[in-house]
Amino acid sequence: MYIPEEKVSEILNTSDIVDVISESVILKKSGRNFFGLCPFHSEKTPSFSVNASKQIFHCFGCSAGGNVLSYVMKYHGITFPEAAKMMARKYNVTIETKEIDPVKRRQIHLKEDLFRLNKTIMEVYFDGLKKQDIGKTPMQYLKKRGITDDTIEQFRLGFSPNNWDTIVKVLKDRKISKNIAIQSGLILERKQNNGYYDRFRNRIMFPIFDVNMQVAGFGGRVMDDSMPKYMNSPDTPVYNKSRILYGLHAAKQYCRQEGCVYIVEGYFDFLSLYQNGIKNTVASLGTALTSDHVRILKGYAKRMVLVFDSDTAGINAAKRSIKIFMNEGVDTRILVLPQGHDPDSYVLKQGQKAFNELALNAKTMMQFLLHISIDTHGLSVEGRIRVLEDMKKQLILIQDSALRSLYVKELAETLNIDEKAVLEKVREQYLSHPGKKSFLHDGENKDAKLESDRREEQMISLMLNYPEIINEIKNKEVLEYFYSEKLKRLAQKILSLDPKKEAFITNAMAGMENAEDQELIASFAMNDFFSEQDIHQTALSIIHRIIRVRKKQENTLTTKIISAEKGSDSDLMDLLKKKQAEIQQLHDHL
Ligand code: CTP
Ligand code: MN
Repeated sequence: MYIPEEKVSEILNTSDIVDVISESVILKKSGRNFFGLCPFHSEKTPSFSVNASKQIFHCFGCSAGGNVLSYVMKYHGITFPEAAKMMARKYNVTIETKEIDPVKRRQIHLKEDLFRLNKTIMEVYFDGLKKQDIGKTPMQYLKKRGITDDTIEQFRLGFSPNNWDTIVKVLKDRKISKNIAIQSGLILERKQNNGYYDRFRNRIMFPIFDVNMQVAGFGGRVMDDSMPKYMNSPDTPVYNKSRILYGLHAAKQYCRQEGCVYIVEGYFDFLSLYQNGIKNTVASLGTALTSDHVRILKGYAKRMVLVFDSDTAGINAAKRSIKIFMNEGVDTRILVLPQGHDPDSYVLKQGQKAFNELALNAKTMMQFLLHISIDTHGLSVEGRIRVLEDMKKQLILIQDSALRSLYVKELAETLNIDEKAVLEKVREQYLSHPGKKSFLHDGENKDAKLESDRREEQMISLMLNYPEIINEIKNKEVLEYFYSEKLKRLAQKILSLDPKKEAFITNAMAGMENAEDQELIASFAMNDFFSEQDIHQTALSIIHRIIRVRKKQENTLTTKIISAEKGSDSDLMDLLKKKQAEIQQLHDHL
């Protein structure tokens, strides 16, 4: 089902968010907003706010936010079209389906069918586990592994009976088309071409949800030592191993709250940690982490902690992942568990507190790599040279120059080598790999960056709340001076909208591609502390500050270049000159 854009607008313009949210949250008016207890995270004092004139909600606690449709989707765990239909019914908006590209429509339908089928089968497995007879052994197994009834309920764990045709029969009874059935990966065709059989038999079943709580696929574990230990759904139109993270649908609010996410490997690792109160956790399900995974997680947490077993496989997995995290510029820590433990066994044995204490000592990526390198080469004279060889390759990958020089210092101290010699090695390595990104990228002035982010956010708040200033902003071309690419992108989208449009904020939100952008819009729209009388003046002064700071920053750069020239720091100088040229180019466009 595809909802035409005009219909979405109509729904947004006729519905009332306070009305809708009041059905599920007790709201009290306070100042310009309504407040209540957030339905998306547990709290004792209300930080969940709803604004009637802007028609948005925003939680100051877990940063959930959006318009009425995002609320309904999130609250009921339903898709966008379902939410739109629900609101259309409530507010008597008639939706006639628009003709869309038939290929695209088929794809959308296929996905909806697969999600629906998976949900049905999830309930079949879930019921299997609850049955007195066949459910007994798997239930005992889960209990033995310390899984509680609440966890089974919340994550809909199940059991696939020990037959070849349980699912085949269900599909037949429900008249599911052969095409859908095969594409779901739940059944397979017999080699002799004479029928089908169930993929999952006699296994504990783990439904794998996507972030929107739709069932994307399944994993199944045997209850003894037979092989293979785990079986998983193949990739399907709704299940993509390189993008899915087990548990994210439940963990995301906690990741936001903590600003940190633990990444573990297995189903039981996730469930044990979650059940023991370490809820900001996701599992990669044994597949190598991809940059998609990391990018998805970036939307929920700044810091990521990779939790690995201390065996060689675990260490190798950690090493492989490091590059990806570095490329994404994420603050990553590595937590290697004591010998013989995985996260599940550790938290079961030692508890939440011990785990948290251990986590405090998680190593940075550099410390981790250094540790391994020293373990391998030792600290003899030759050993230390080899360690330095290993580490210089890693050091040039660090984007942030301040951070890099800290590591250089630390490395020099650990190896008891002169810092200048270490620096020289790193420089050599850098020069022989000129393709690498600029050292100066991003890192030159953290504080200035934070400040400018704040101003850029204010600019967006103003644009959302007072669309009448949008033309002014267009004239000044202030977006060209934005530091944050992300905020610039958001602001550009807002600028492209018609400022005269009704319900500007909530319609702007509807135009955003993903939930993260919508949440950002909600939070900026709520942060409206401007006084209405002199909006124009305020806008002008923010615009000027953004431009002035950027120009000042360039001047500092010029000073740096002059001193680098004096110090004959030649590669640094090249980089700075390049940077300067980039800025010049930017200005030539203005
Ligand atoms: N895995 C898999 N197929 C396998 C083995 C593992 O898909 N044959 C995935 C599973 O998602 C599993 C994860 O890799 O959870 C980690 O594997 P492993 O460490 O072997 O298992 P555990 O999660 O520790 O499982 P358990 O505690 O049940 O033994
Ligand atoms: Mn385990």
